[in-house]
Amino acid sequence: MKKEILSPQKTEYDAEVPYERDVRPRRLDEYIGQEKVKNGLKIFIEAAKTRGESLDHILLYGPPGVGKTTLAYVIAHELNVNIKITSGPILEKIGDLAAILTNLEEREVLFIDEIHRLNRSIEEMLYPALEEYKLDILIGQGPGAKILRIDIPRFTLIGATTRAGLLTSPLRNRFGVTTRLDYYNDQEIVRIIERSATILGLEIEAGAAMEVARRTRGTPRIANRLLRRIRDYAQVKSQKIADVPCVVEAFNILDVDENGFDSMDRRLLDTIIDKFGGGPVGIESLATSLSEDKETLEDVYEPYLIQKGYIHRTTRGRMATSLAYEYLKKNQKLGEDTLF
Ligand SMILES: Nc1ncnc2c1ncn2[C@@H]1O[C@H](COP(=O)(O)OP(=O)(O)OP(=O)(O)O)[C@@H](O)[C@H]1O
Ligand SMILES: [Mg+2]
Repeated sequence: MKKEILSPQKTEYDAEVPYERDVRPRRLDEYIGQEKVKNGLKIFIEAAKTRGESLDHILLYGPPGVGKTTLAYVIAHELNVNIKITSGPILEKIGDLAAILTNLEEREVLFIDEIHRLNRSIEEMLYPALEEYKLDILIGQGPGAKILRIDIPRFTLIGATTRAGLLTSPLRNRFGVTTRLDYYNDQEIVRIIERSATILGLEIEAGAAMEVARRTRGTPRIANRLLRRIRDYAQVKSQKIADVPCVVEAFNILDVDENGFDSMDRRLLDTIIDKFGGGPVGIESLATSLSEDKETLEDVYEPYLIQKGYIHRTTRGRMATSLAYEYLKKNQKLGEDTLF
């Protein structure tokens, strides 16, 4: 459970639809943080609306749980158009994409999640659709086969990915806007917590909201998840207001540490230090040692540890920093203390 609660990736736990639906921002002014991104989008949206045209295609990339899907919905809402949702792995046959594209309305948004996982033939079919709003359909077989080119509505594609580096350059080049969403700072996460708490009818003290924020790995999805647990705890303890002691006690029970690190983060740091003498160590060796796949380490665990300065990435591999040594020392000490 501990691993799940701090995982930035979507889990079954987040699929409790009413909660998700209630706290998810709908409008741009409810979408907290990412100010630069929002300012740019406001202008593009306004301009497209004034001209009565479709918005340029947008690529959103960034780590799991930072608001890519949410932003896609928000953009469609601000454009006053519908959004159709699909994802790279779901689109298997070119007929699937053709059906979606021909059924779009003018200016509608098509959202393709995990767009780096599109198969080749579908991706190639997208090129003329994105560039010229045309679809090439192959009619018949063998020497008599013909390509029929049909017009499709002028739509907006919003693609989302945690791995922009895996997109082919022809696909990447067809997006008019490429936007990176990054981790949120503590103040922004506090605002997200306060907003969600109000929606959930939970009163939380400012100091307590900060205690939660520090454990969220800068990730709104984790913030909302931890808040639900705080709400449960406050309710069971009949606490009207979630204050600092209440929050700290709840985290002790949940075994969530002050940094929001879970057992994988700790093992990762421990492995670099203990097994590889602090590094540098290549990602493959690290993945083998931890029995975890390389992609998960690179997408989910590493970025936050690097951003917070616990790991340093060099050309020869990953290295533990002094912060990592201090953290492990403190944790070991804590572990010993709790034994007695
Ligand atoms: N800027 C924000 N302001 C307020 N809440 C946010 C914001 N961004 C995300 N959230 C909340 O965090 C949750 C997770 O966000 P979302 O599902 O959009 O992440 P994602 O980047 O699409 O993740 P994944 O890579 O796993 O698909 C949302 O349900 C929403 O409630
Ligand atoms: Mg998403």
